[in-house]
Amino acid sequence: MKNLIVIDHPLVKRDLTLLRNKKTPSHQFRAILRRTASLMAYEVSRDLQTKVVEVETPLEKTKGVMVNQQIVLVPILRAGLGLVGGFVEVMPNARVGHIGLFRDEETLKPVDYYFKVPRNLDRALVILLDPMLATGGSAAAAISFLKERGARSLRMANLVSAPEGVRKVRKAHPDVVMYTCALDRELNKRGYILPGLGDAGDRMFGTE
Ligand code: PRP
Ligand code: URA
Repeated sequence: MKNLIVIDHPLVKRDLTLLRNKKTPSHQFRAILRRTASLMAYEVSRDLQTKVVEVETPLEKTKGVMVNQQIVLVPILRAGLGLVGGFVEVMPNARVGHIGLFRDEETLKPVDYYFKVPRNLDRALVILLDPMLATGGSAAAAISFLKERGARSLRMANLVSAPEGVRKVRKAHPDVVMYTCALDRELNKRGYILPGLGDAGDRMFGTE
């Protein structure tokens, strides 16, 4: 699908299988999600701008490479928090914003309750983080908020995506490239992804 990159890696597939398993308890779910997030970060950042620098080894001077691009990570609360640790582990200089959104269970429309992002979003690569892309309502709204605050270069990282959500984001924001670990089959009547992994926030935090 256009604008969609499916991260096709055996370690990611293994982790996703563990996350899908309903018997995986919250503490393991959080740890596996964090590890998967680092693997996702590796793919999402594959083409980051770099600059050549001089470095002195214990033996001599040589050339090295540093990242030359500001990065802002923006998790959608709550479940997006589960991806932050793994991303910052490999992107230690990234700044982090937060968007609070939840889906109204009846209408499936996003309800916003919190927004705090760093300054100068226009100069950064902004990576929106959320394990689940279902109807796409939350993601499309979050991207609109970020664009209103100046974001010009945006990517989104999801663990599991539904075709409905991918279509919605692609239509509303054709400039945003989506990275996912799996494109699942469909949504059920309550807007849950099938086969999916259930409610990511509840599984992370042990709520229901
Ligand atoms: C989940 C998920 C996404 C949203 C996806 O959050 O983390 O943000 O649903 O659904 P959508 O694509 O149909 O908008 P939820 O609303 O359950 O909030 P929570 O993370 O606080 O549990
Ligand atoms: N949000 C989730 O956490 N899971 C789904 O399957 C759909 C939306």
